[in-house]
Amino acid sequence: EVLDAGGLVALPGFVDLHTHLREPGREDTETIETGSRAAALGGYTAVFAMANTDPVADNAVVVEHVWRRGREVGLVDVHPVGAVTVGLRGERLAELGTMARSAAGVRVFSDDGHCVADPLVMRRALEYTKALDAVVAQHAEEPRLTVGAQAHEGEAAARLGLAGWPAVAEESIVARDCLLARHVGARLHVCHVSTEGTADVLRWAKARGTRVSAEVTPHHLLLDDSRLSGYDPVNKVNPPLRTGSDAAALRAALAEGVVDCVATDHAPHAAQDKDCEWSAARPGMLGLQTALPIVVRTMVEPGLLDWRGVARVMSERPAEIAGLPDQGRPIAVGEPATLALVDPAGRWTVRGADLASIAANTPYEGMELPGTVVATLLRGTPTARDGKAAS
Ligand code: DOR
Ligand code: ZN
Ligand code: ZN
Repeated sequence: EVLDAGGLVALPGFVDLHTHLREPGREDTETIETGSRAAALGGYTAVFAMANTDPVADNAVVVEHVWRRGREVGLVDVHPVGAVTVGLRGERLAELGTMARSAAGVRVFSDDGHCVADPLVMRRALEYTKALDAVVAQHAEEPRLTVGAQAHEGEAAARLGLAGWPAVAEESIVARDCLLARHVGARLHVCHVSTEGTADVLRWAKARGTRVSAEVTPHHLLLDDSRLSGYDPVNKVNPPLRTGSDAAALRAALAEGVVDCVATDHAPHAAQDKDCEWSAARPGMLGLQTALPIVVRTMVEPGLLDWRGVARVMSERPAEIAGLPDQGRPIAVGEPATLALVDPAGRWTVRGADLASIAANTPYEGMELPGTVVATLLRGTPTARDGKAAS
């Protein structure tokens, strides 16, 4: 079958370091199958499934289940992220080595969903992951500074009477863990950077030779807390939407390389957990099918990144950070392709109900976005084509 690739851009398949697939536990909002379809349609060929499932992916049984189910579905490489700790308050380290040696071969461990507040636990986590040649992906929240927090601490939150989530809750723990990672000589990955101050901390840490990498979400590149005037919980997310100048600083930091890559933090939620009062709503937004268009809008259109740069932030850097040798690189002659074919002139209007996810909580409802994924190939096999997933 011949594919007319005239005018299209070929990119290495995208790698998402941060996807919530909700299986096991919340299959009413997303499954590994539906999330894999969304990923393939979004141009992804590998996703990292976050550990805050039910039960939590803090042991070999759960990570092997996620890994096997991903292989059965076969649309995208699903790599389970292991939880750093066991227990609700993250007081005890999980058996990282058991997950690393399991069939899932876990190499990314995270506290996303249950923060590691204790510096000694984080230090031990860094020591173990260093020994395993793995990485800690930290949620970057000092929970003792976000008690009750509902939105970015600032004018919008004050006007709505919502408790504020200060920038320092993120910046202080990123600084702490950069220092710990440097002390241990371990690798740290910072999830969903949301403030200008965090970019400054990262710049400082990297200049001092810290082995730290970082991701930014599409929504923190595009959206800001002016969206809160409508009081619609679709805009509720952790970390919260920050100010317009934070978003501008994040775009600049991504262009500069201080922030290494884009990760979706794809977070499906049931309608009843979003169509409710703000304080009762769950935080999070869908991201897999809209990530590339948002990067085109925020980075390519203003000239902050060219297509080479898009390949770097969507594919090459995340593959390097996670240690995936067969993703995130140009196709060698004769090798089965793992790639996304993008039509830069394509335009589409986002409809939550039309997305492949079971949930529909997109903040981009009704928005016309640039850049369509025409086809996705995983090791030579089409996984999505013209807006339809292969299975
Ligand atoms: O907005 C978020 N949603 N942030 C997180 O850290 C967790 C995620 C989720 O699981 O829904
Ligand atoms: Zn998080
Ligand atoms: Zn997350």
